[in-house]
Amino acid sequence: MAAIFRIFALCLLCFPVISWAAMEPRTNYMINCQGCHLADGRGKTGSVPSMKGELHKFLTVPGGREFLVQVPGSANAPLNDAELAELLNWMLGNMSGASNSNFSPYTEAEVKKLRAKVLVDVMKTRERLVRQFAENK
Ligand code: HEC
Repeated sequence: MAAIFRIFALCLLCFPVISWAAMEPRTNYMINCQGCHLADGRGKTGSVPSMKGELHKFLTVPGGREFLVQVPGSANAPLNDAELAELLNWMLGNMSGASNSNFSPYTEAEVKKLRAKVLVDVMKTRERLVRQFAENK
């Protein structure tokens, strides 16, 4: 009996650690995004565009900030709005070429608002945004 209680007590101790780990943006990226985007965000030639050194460019054109939340990979992720905001901020800070100091981080409220709007033509929207930031060079 005592052993059962000890195991139970140990499990209780583990819980906060496990749920904290699930909240970590890096862990969320590994579980939900890395399969397609790869560990460093370089993607897969021909099917998944590279984010490496690129992602922050979306923030420089009108509609780009919305796009990063509304793109299906983000919007349909099994993450709540706070977790998605944190994940996008982590991606922007770690693999996009934007340093944490030069972009204004997404908040839970902003993600909630943007996520509520479904992006109808993903590819067309993406092409327009990429063309715009290519022209801005
Ligand atoms: C099944 C493959 C796949 C998975 C899994 C995936 N993505 Fe994507 N992602 C794509 C593709 C393909 C694009 C290009 C736009 C499109 O066609 O949706 C993209 C584009 C993006 C973009 C916009 C950047 C760009 O250059 O277009 C962001 C931001 C993004 N994904 C975030 C995420 C996040 C966050 C996750 C995990 C929670 C995730 N994605 C999971 C395939 C995936």
